Amino acid sequence: MTTHTPRGCFISLEGLDGAGKSTHVPWLVDQLKARGLPVLCTREPGGTPLGEQLRQILLETSMHLKTETLLMFAARCEHVNSVILPALEAGQWVVCDRFTDASYAYQGGGRQLGKSAVHVLEQWAIPGIQPDRTWLFDVPLEVARERLARSRQLDRFEQEGEAFFERTRQAYHQRVQQQPHRFHLVDSTLPIEVVRSRLAAEIDALVSRHDRDIEGDTP
Ligand code: TYD
Repeated sequence: MTTHTPRGCFISLEGLDGAGKSTHVPWLVDQLKARGLPVLCTREPGGTPLGEQLRQILLETSMHLKTETLLMFAARCEHVNSVILPALEAGQWVVCDRFTDASYAYQGGGRQLGKSAVHVLEQWAIPGIQPDRTWLFDVPLEVARERLARSRQLDRFEQEGEAFFERTRQAYHQRVQQQPHRFHLVDSTLPIEVVRSRLAAEIDALVSRHDRDIEGDTP
């Protein structure tokens, strides 16, 4: 008799630098584990030995916009094939700090590459791979800038100017408008405890939906 392991759930977290996304990643992992779920936590760019090397280059070295976008997708292709898909197939819940929406927002919007070039690369490098749910941590630009100013040394993206981040935020919002079913918009100006109590309800809803989907799939 063959046993069928139900596929895990793929959650990504997005937002401008300084929006508070990174504060909630370890918390989300703990919440899922507390509900007895097997969790893999990873990030982009990165998530594999090659991807982490590419991350260092991407965050430190100036390069042509197309080179930057290709390297983001090179790291992502490796990540999807060697980490994310195997984990999902083994039934794990994958929590990913940024995914393809960041390329639409930062390269497509912020750097003005446009969404069609990003779409072409997405279709070629990782066809059909999308998170099941994406949390977008949203704050007005001034709040993100103010939080960033308090943080450690800034990387190449974080050093960009206001217009860049305004375009990046708008591109994120466009993604939400285009795929409202996938996104959960988080008002990240609220106190952390308020954000977390709302997210806890969102996690419960996700877990129940996932359980229902599995029951629906069981032969
Ligand atoms: P980030 O995830 O914010 O990490 P940290 O919290 O350590 O600063 O940093 C990654 C940077 O990479 C961020 O500024 C956005 C950028 N990025 C892109 O421009 N395109 C992408 O596709 C991805 C995944 C990230």
